[in-house]
Amino acid sequence: MVRHFLDLSDAGGNALAAMLEDAMTRKDARKDWPKGRVDADAPLAGNTLAMIFEKNSTRTRVSFDMAMRQLGGTTIVMDAGSMQLGRGETVADTARVLSRFADAIMIRTDDHEKIRQMAQHATVPVINGLTDHSHPCQIMADLQTVIERRAKLAGTTWAWLGDGNNVLHSIIEAGGLLGFSVRVGCPEGYDPSPEVVELARSRGCNVSFERDPMKAVAGVDVVVTDTWISMGQKHAEAKLAAMMPYQVTPAIMAAAARDAVFLHCLPAHRGEEVADAVIDGPQSAVWDEAENRLHAQKSILRWCFGQI
Ligand code: CP
Ligand code: NVA
Repeated sequence: MVRHFLDLSDAGGNALAAMLEDAMTRKDARKDWPKGRVDADAPLAGNTLAMIFEKNSTRTRVSFDMAMRQLGGTTIVMDAGSMQLGRGETVADTARVLSRFADAIMIRTDDHEKIRQMAQHATVPVINGLTDHSHPCQIMADLQTVIERRAKLAGTTWAWLGDGNNVLHSIIEAGGLLGFSVRVGCPEGYDPSPEVVELARSRGCNVSFERDPMKAVAGVDVVVTDTWISMGQKHAEAKLAAMMPYQVTPAIMAAAARDAVFLHCLPAHRGEEVADAVIDGPQSAVWDEAENRLHAQKSILRWCFGQI
């Protein structure tokens, strides 16, 4: 069975916990090393990851590239617009061909169905580098960051403020798999997918909805937000106006637990979803969170290759 990482549920809670453990051990083992030095065991030596980007990226592109280098492998990075995919070659045929050249495929795309098709027709692991529906690699980094700061995930409460988007979907999914609670603070009309919420609840996750942003963050361990306008969405004044009360400000952080952590997947729109004083403040973990994309993804890759 080829191991695809399309969503966190593909691995399940136990494997996710093992991957997070592995990520932290490997991060520790190469502390203070030059970033381009290969890990002592070079576990993916001889392997190549092909990456396809149908949307912009800084973190996902660079962290996967560096992850493969540190694991002893190599990468091929492609923008969909310069591939035949960009002029109509099917996802299925692209999957078949890339499987003959590369040992794994990572794709960032819009429609989640495309990544399912890619996995269906690939004979090598396929990894979701973000779709309109979910962003599982990002949430692995978020989980690692919270464990580093709070020592545990189980029993913690996370509050999301803003748009009910792809990043929130993966957070809710993680809550169901790893046993933490999620308080959703979205304005009316911008809630996350009910199917995602129901699935997490069926796994025992306490997902609650609170439209008052102050009440949503009251006493929580983690405050997390993201852009109000995701890639592929039109800029909309009405949406921005609805989101404004959900900006993460110092007053919002003061309502959370005293040592609450602030997360944001980045890129940030300062003055929209987050105030400078929060993202640059002492509770912000966003730079560790960004760095952890590298460490968490090394473990995702190792899981896909059957090493975890
Ligand atoms: N957080 C994240 O996925 O960043 P990029 O869009 O820069 O890859
Ligand atoms: N929700 C954002 C995440 C960017 C990393 C988007 O899809 O654009």
